[in-house]
Amino acid sequence: MVMIQDVIKRKLKFLVTAGPTVEDIDPVRFLSNRSSGKMGYELARTVIRAGHCVTLVSGPTSLTSPKGCRHVAVRSARDMLKAVLKHFRQSDIIIKAAAVADYRPQKKQLKKIKKKQGSLKIHLVKNPDILKILGSKKNSSQLLVGFAAETDNIMRHARKKMIEKKLDWIAINNVSRQDIGFLSDNNELILMAKNGGTILLPKQSKTKLSAKMIKIFVSDWQQKNLAC
Ligand code: PMT
Repeated sequence: MVMIQDVIKRKLKFLVTAGPTVEDIDPVRFLSNRSSGKMGYELARTVIRAGHCVTLVSGPTSLTSPKGCRHVAVRSARDMLKAVLKHFRQSDIIIKAAAVADYRPQKKQLKKIKKKQGSLKIHLVKNPDILKILGSKKNSSQLLVGFAAETDNIMRHARKKMIEKKLDWIAINNVSRQDIGFLSDNNELILMAKNGGTILLPKQSKTKLSAKMIKIFVSDWQQKNLAC
């Protein structure tokens, strides 16, 4: 039988991903995106402040890892998948704030590609969808949270991701706005729960947003695990 006190007082294990992934073309060039890592690092910092444990799997950023977290540095989407799978089973709440490259060059050239006449074609292949893999592996006590970085038809695209990836929550941001999202210290999010309910978290610092998000996710994890 699950004791209420055991669930409420339990120190939870979080797995948070942050930053961009980097997909090498040759020794000097790569494909990546504008993620600074701020959103994911603030979430990890908040988890520690709240007295829980966090493993932060991060793509390359210029940020300092929050004190007290277990930091795992990765570069590509495939590196991130490997690191995430290593820590996934023992995690209670998984939050994927990283901006993972959907495609990578089919082959990394070992020598710098030389400039030639005419255009250059780089063949891209699909990267694994880490969150979708986690969605297919999660157990009934784990809480899986994804992000949706959208520019149009925001709610429709986000809902589709939530269903396809079997998420408990999705944090939706409009990344066409310059004042929030990528690189900014601020963000505005719509949290969508798997039952379709939404919570608007209006524009505020990523620090304040993280505090609200972690509170919501911990409370949902507790309810889920009390119901087991
Ligand atoms: O890092 P910052 O500068 O602070 O910016 C924050 C942010 C904009 C990066 C963050 O708020 C955010 O939106 N992160 C998710 C970015 C993203 O990749 O969104 P997406 O809609 O393309 O992907 C949906 C979800 O699937 C994400 O949780 C993503 O981590 C995950 N995914 C995507 C592709 C893939 N191959 N594997 C994945 O796991």
